[in-house]
Amino acid sequence: MTMRVLKALAFMPSVLAAALSPVPIDSRSLSDIYAAAQKENGVLRVVHGGDERDQADALFEAFSAKFPNVKVNHTVDLSKYLDGRINQAFLQNELYADMAILQTLHDYDAWEEKGVLLHYKPPSFDNVWPSLTNANGAYIPVFAASFGPFVFNSSAIPTADIPKSYGDILDPKWKGKIVLTYPNDDDAVLYLFKLIIQQYGWQWLDQLLEQDVQWVRGTATPAEIMLRNSSRTISFTTYPPAEGWTSVSPVSDRYMSWTQTSAIFKDTKLPETAKLLQAFLISEEFQVSRGEPSVRKDVGNSTIWDADNTDYVTFHQFMEDRDAVEQLRFVFEDKIGTAQGLSPLVDDLF
Ligand SMILES: *[C@@H]1O[C@H](CO)[C@@H](O)[C@H](O)[C@H]1NC(C)=O
Ligand SMILES: *[C@@H]1O[C@H](CO)[C@@H](O)[C@H](O)[C@H]1NC(C)=O
Ligand SMILES: *[C@@H]1O[C@H](CO)[C@@H](O)[C@H](O)[C@H]1NC(C)=O
Ligand SMILES: *[C@@H]1O[C@H](CO)[C@@H](O)[C@H](O)[C@H]1NC(C)=O
Repeated sequence: MTMRVLKALAFMPSVLAAALSPVPIDSRSLSDIYAAAQKENGVLRVVHGGDERDQADALFEAFSAKFPNVKVNHTVDLSKYLDGRINQAFLQNELYADMAILQTLHDYDAWEEKGVLLHYKPPSFDNVWPSLTNANGAYIPVFAASFGPFVFNSSAIPTADIPKSYGDILDPKWKGKIVLTYPNDDDAVLYLFKLIIQQYGWQWLDQLLEQDVQWVRGTATPAEIMLRNSSRTISFTTYPPAEGWTSVSPVSDRYMSWTQTSAIFKDTKLPETAKLLQAFLISEEFQVSRGEPSVRKDVGNSTIWDADNTDYVTFHQFMEDRDAVEQLRFVFEDKIGTAQGLSPLVDDLF
């Protein structure tokens, strides 16, 4: 049997179970769920993947402003460290968090196979793109994100100079100007580099390494460096940090996108509070606040299918094949070196 068939079979039991006893979509309003949540006592512990401590503040501030009578404590750290802490705690029969909102999408399939996730379909679940979610409601997509678009200060780079492709970045005029996140330190950046090398071959990396790239940990760090050092002017593994900065997708080269994903651990002592947060995350209000594209079919003026050169589903498949991910990571580590520097979450990085 091929791996593909084996993998398809591995998902069969949950598919069958879903067909036999489908989890109903919660028909309550957010206020009804809020009323139920207020009968619970305790602090909901949520972990959120990211590489700056304040990265999820807006989300949790919006939630707490809307639902002030339930308590939430959230922690932001790299998804690859949060999942380790969750799994270590499981080994001691402990629950590290009630909910996890992470980038490491393979974790959700592993947790679902172990039977540790609560199956819950919040209101509007049927409006979420099916390819991004779990049919049983074991996990849901929360918001879309990408790495690959070129990020720069639009007043500092003439329009004619803006790269149109990852080939353009090899031009000698960019030597000493590029700042990038180590692909061997972040699987999303690793997948971006995989897509680029699929198109340009490994010689692209060899040429990039001659461009005197500044390699950093964390995907907010390139933007911080560019703000502080006007000699470093371009990145494609970060987000615009301020007014006047912009992000421009390559014209036709493929780049990576994913949807940050959320699940509830079924041993939570606060199931209604967790359901309230899950319901809030795919509510129209929150989806509009995150900007486009939405994880929902019926929210926004564009959809996750509109961009021709990226897609939101293949990163999940990439992440599931851990052997291939590890193998690829070490090829990059061999060529670039081990990721240097403190965790990007350390406050005094500069
Ligand atoms: C929130 O969680 C962190 C990390 O687990 C912990 O150190 C902190 O004491 C918690 N705060 C509250 C108010 O529960
Ligand atoms: C962007 O570039 C312009 C022109 O070089 C400069 O005046 C401005 O300070 C830069 N903005 C930021 C936020 O670095
Ligand atoms: C800014 O970047 C340039 C080019 O890499 C480097 O030579 C210089 O030392 C950097 N300046 C600071 C203050 O880090
Ligand atoms: C769709 O476009 C309208 C009008 O430009 C805007 O107000 C709205 O916020 C957009 N929707 C989203 C989800 O961004």
